[in-house]
Amino acid sequence: MKGVLLAGGTGSRLYPLTRITNKHLLPINDRPMISYGIEALVKAGISEIMVVTGGTHAGEFLRLLSNGDDHDVDLLCYAYQDRPGGIAEALGLTERFVGDDRVLVMLADNIFGKTIKPTVEAFMEQPKGARIVLSHVEEPSHLRHLGVPELRDGKVVGIVEKPENPPSSYCVTGAYCYDPTVYSVISNLVPSGRGELEITDVNNYYVEAEMMEYDVLGGFWGDAGESIDAYYEVNDHVRHHGANLS
Ligand code: G1P
Repeated sequence: MKGVLLAGGTGSRLYPLTRITNKHLLPINDRPMISYGIEALVKAGISEIMVVTGGTHAGEFLRLLSNGDDHDVDLLCYAYQDRPGGIAEALGLTERFVGDDRVLVMLADNIFGKTIKPTVEAFMEQPKGARIVLSHVEEPSHLRHLGVPELRDGKVVGIVEKPENPPSSYCVTGAYCYDPTVYSVISNLVPSGRGELEITDVNNYYVEAEMMEYDVLGGFWGDAGESIDAYYEVNDHVRHHGANLS
């Protein structure tokens, strides 16, 4: 199984911090944000990783991560997204790297308190399809900024992106497992209202095909790119409790 870490985008919700650097290079406790994503993939048992980034600070990732030796990565590759075209578009750039293998995709601004290894292991037992990680979120105001699943009889029956009326009190976190058919799903997507290829459209393809499984995460989850408040909440959590713990 291959790993893909998505580290592009404009980081506009963290302006002006992100005017002079890429969001994923900002500090979380004592390390640049992206190193937690690398660690999450490695601790999940994945050692061949492609980082997808873009913009004017892409070169900094090479200086920071080099060939991955400091993080026990066997193969570290990079892809460049010419313009922010959405999470699914960025994933599409990794097609030749992943080939016929399966892939764990992570948004590099998502920080998990506990390792996501159990999800990867469960996905390896799945004959095909996709698997997502859900986190319980109390406040509807928070859910309105996220992808939210509708659940029925232990199944995901649909996912709504940034819903006005959240259909459950769970969000879809930025960790996704896919079989290699994901690349043909992406090639058939049409851009959303905000002009991007949406990962939620990819996930809903698997939901409709009844090939979507999920796990509910225990422990902390945060999207450090969501707002300045979220960024500091993630920082505080990692500083006091750590991340990607066994
Ligand atoms: C993205 C996804 C959303 C998911 C979130 C998790 O949102 O589109 O479904 O819940 O990541 O961080 P974005 O951060 O692009 O607004």
